[in-house]
Amino acid sequence: MKRVAVLISGRGSNMQALVRHARGYQVVLVASDTPEAPGLRWAAEHGIATFSLPAPTVGKTAFEQAVLRELDHRNVQIVALAGYMRLLSPAFLAAVACPVLNIHPSLLPLYKGLNTHARAIAAGDTHAGCSVHRVTEELDGGQVLGQSRVPIAPGDTPDSLAARVLAAEHELYPRVLTELCMTSLERLRAAALALPGTQEGERDGLPTFAVADQPYAQFHARSDGRDEVRICNDGPGETWTAIPLGEDPDWTWIEDQVARSWELSAPAALLEAGGR
Ligand code: GRF
Repeated sequence: MKRVAVLISGRGSNMQALVRHARGYQVVLVASDTPEAPGLRWAAEHGIATFSLPAPTVGKTAFEQAVLRELDHRNVQIVALAGYMRLLSPAFLAAVACPVLNIHPSLLPLYKGLNTHARAIAAGDTHAGCSVHRVTEELDGGQVLGQSRVPIAPGDTPDSLAARVLAAEHELYPRVLTELCMTSLERLRAAALALPGTQEGERDGLPTFAVADQPYAQFHARSDGRDEVRICNDGPGETWTAIPLGEDPDWTWIEDQVARSWELSAPAALLEAGGR
């Protein structure tokens, strides 16, 4: 169970979603640069440790150093920004010893910064959305870990669109955090078992996923630590193609490969049932 700290500046509705839908992680701290942030009260009422200092009064450096001490004290393993309205300093990001994530209300790399909904409407976009990304020194610039698309309706205002995107944020953020906390095998298993007719078994001692007795994906935990997802979709010949996972696997792409492999292996009746 990974220990998560959430940083907020205001109402904290995303923080509440992270708490309510926690799976594979636990929110152990809610911290804020704004002592009167409504989200802090909600967290305290739900038995979660809170911490706040008025950043404008104490200064950014002192505030960040105090947060670092709190993270250390509570053995925090992931930091999730949720409506935290300040840029973290390069010194903070260098010192923090764990992943830092953020949720942003646009389909990054579109519309970094503020007023995302008004900008999407003004551009005539058909879709808006939200993104969970790793935090780097660049504003809203780190690797995107997950996105949800939300249609823009005729007559939408920035407020009506924001409300629809916010509902998508509340589903996306806990899901991405849970995925980040999974092992690679758990991640593959979740992707494969979501595809109709998939059964988990073993082939050559490796966890293997098959549809209608046709194996199409497996996991190879290698002794040198360079784990692989392997896919196979050439019928009885069973030639496996390895996808090395590396340090920061692109799971969106890997899940797509697994789904394609399923599509090439599944009988027509299951394809009609729809895989993805
Ligand atoms: C959300 O739209 C989030 O994407 C953005 O700031 C807003 C925060 O809302 N970063 P809340 O405090 O989580 O309710």
